[in-house]
This record gives sequence, C-alpha cells and structure tokens, in this order.
Amino acid sequence: MARWFSRSSNRGASRMNRSSNRLALPATNRAAAEGFEDVQNIVLGSCLMCHAREPFWEGIRQAPKDVLLETPNDIARQARQIYLQAGVSRAMPPANLTYISDKDRVKIVKWFRAATGNSIAGLL
Ligand code: HEC
Repeated sequence: MARWFSRSSNRGASRMNRSSNRLALPATNRAAAEGFEDVQNIVLGSCLMCHAREPFWEGIRQAPKDVLLETPNDIARQARQIYLQAGVSRAMPPANLTYISDKDRVKIVKWFRAATGNSIAGLL
C-alpha cells in the first residue's frame, strides 16, 4: 500500500506540474495535508461503492460523471469536488445513503482548507 501510494503520488505530481494553474497547489500537497488519512477512510467507506473503477452499488455500473474516488491520487485530484459535494454541502452521498456524520463532514472541510494552505485559492 505505502509503496503503491508513493508511486501514484509521483505520477500525480508530474501531471499536476504540466497542467496546474498558478493558484492550484499540487495534488500531492492535498494527499500529504493533515487529515488526509481520515478523509481517505471516509471516502472509501461512503463514496467508493459508487465511485470506483468497478462500482459495487446496485444499479451503478460506471462511476457517476466519471468521478473516481478510489486511490489516494484520485482523492487528491478530486479534493475540491469532495469538499464541495460532501464537505460544505450534503449533495453526496445522495440522500446520505451511505451515511456521513456531521463530524466527518467537518473533517473533510478542515482537510481541504489545510491542503490549500487556508488560502482562498482552493475555494475558487
Ligand atoms: C449511492 C451511490 C453514490 C455514492 C455512495 C456517492 N455518490 Fe457521488 N454521485 C452519485 C451519482 C448518481 C452522481 C451523479 C449525480 C448527477 O448526475 O447529478 C454522483 C456525482 C458525484 C460528483 C460529481 C458532481 C457534479 O455535479 O459534477 C461528485 C464530485 C461526487 N459524486 C462525489 C461523491 C463523494 C465525495 C461521495 C462520498 C462522500 C459520493 N459521491 C458518494 C452516486 C453516488
């Protein structure tokens, strides 16, 4: 797990360097930010069943809107969307089907804000 994680975050770093705009911090900062492990557990426990490469929620055959939330790199890349859909809003999971507690939503918010250096850059 650890070895695979560092490989995938290296790949993420080079992709970000190519495509990042100046305001965005590299995805690797998000994976390294305080609270990432908690957020990863929340996402794997409450989002993965639908947002996997091979979803295992009945009726979902492909990750909705191609949003993949499976690997640390996926989570880092989707940080802003996770923050918006499950942190500051309750859009995800739909109808809170897989249940995220308010405490866990606060963890997502804190992680995202730490990952973006508490600047407004990540909020735009
Ligand atoms: C039961 C299945 C299911 C679960 C669990 C689930 N989602 Fe989704 N997700 C969906 C569906 C269906 C859509 C497409 C909604 C639409 O078309 O507007 C979606 C869309 C999204 C999108 C794209 C939103 C957009 O408008 O572009 C994001 C981001 C997302 N989900 C994140 C999450 C996160 C984060 C979690 C866990 C906290 C989660 N989802 C849990 C089914 C799920």
